[in-house]
Amino acid sequence: MVRLFHDAGVLPQLLDGETPLFITMPGETLRLADPGGVVSDSIRRTGAIHLSYAGTALPVQDVQRLYRQVIPERCSIIVAVGGGTVIDIAKIIGVAVSNRLPAIENLLDNPAGFVNTVPTICVPTTCGTGSEATHFAVVYSGGRKYSIAHQSMRPGIAILDWRFLVALPERIRNATVLDALSQAIESIWAKGSNDDSRQYAVEAVGSILRGLDATTDADRLKSLQDGSYLSGKAIDISKTTAAHAISYPLTARFGIPHGIAVFLTLPGIAELNYQVGLCDRFKLLFDLFHVDSISAFQARLRDIMAGMGFSARLSDWGVADGDLSAIAAESITPGRSDNNPAVVSPELVLKLLRSIM
Ligand SMILES: [Fe+2]
Repeated sequence: MVRLFHDAGVLPQLLDGETPLFITMPGETLRLADPGGVVSDSIRRTGAIHLSYAGTALPVQDVQRLYRQVIPERCSIIVAVGGGTVIDIAKIIGVAVSNRLPAIENLLDNPAGFVNTVPTICVPTTCGTGSEATHFAVVYSGGRKYSIAHQSMRPGIAILDWRFLVALPERIRNATVLDALSQAIESIWAKGSNDDSRQYAVEAVGSILRGLDATTDADRLKSLQDGSYLSGKAIDISKTTAAHAISYPLTARFGIPHGIAVFLTLPGIAELNYQVGLCDRFKLLFDLFHVDSISAFQARLRDIMAGMGFSARLSDWGVADGDLSAIAAESITPGRSDNNPAVVSPELVLKLLRSIM
């Protein structure tokens, strides 16, 4: 169970008597995002080791480089302040410190085999991954994606303080919103979903749509942040599906931001899943989006993306016709493709990719 707080002012109290390790976004970005300097003050006051990271994908070598700077005896608690990647680093380093692992690579042989014993406080600064609510973290090694997972990796505390989102550039915020929205939608139809995950996912979609329509910054950011957290709670149970599986080569090969990469194929995946007859799941989705047909649902998804100024055409993101076969071949990943209700083959993915060129 994640304990939630909504005001970062609680941080000094949570860190009382602790020797924290801080993992954050880079200094200047942190300074802009940090309301009242509460994070910077806590780092200074506790004399904590402070690591920062700027990347979005996460090569294992980068985590190893950060891990080398950690002194396990000065790490009674980890505070992560940043987006999904920073939070994932905190989770992975937490496991490595707990088990006094010599190297992060040790985790890759047995990604589900290590218990985390270091408490973690997450302060998300985007409204995307919901990583503050999940028990897994993603890392890349040798071009392969590893999901490191253990129930003990779910952070104990999340501080959802909307003021951390104010300085986030609109384009980045929107891309992260698409990630959270896609996660929640995919969670509703995922094979791995259950009543609890669907409840979280429905609440997540509702909160995100409210956020997109909100008229004040505070209302918008609070709703988007809550929606992101709830989408994390949903996929913590259900996992994601084919739209996420196809997104990985799009991001790895062409640098398409994760949320956009996911959303590009979401309308097509929705249609495939609708065809296998998940009436109850699509009834939930249609009600949430106030539509009454799959084509109207797809149009709503495309409108949301277009309203943010993002192209829904792969060719606008640097993808050429000759790239499609390789993307399709890399799109079938265990845990996501087979969590998709409609069977997804490379041929089907290729057809879908061609339709959005
Ligand atoms: Fe995602």
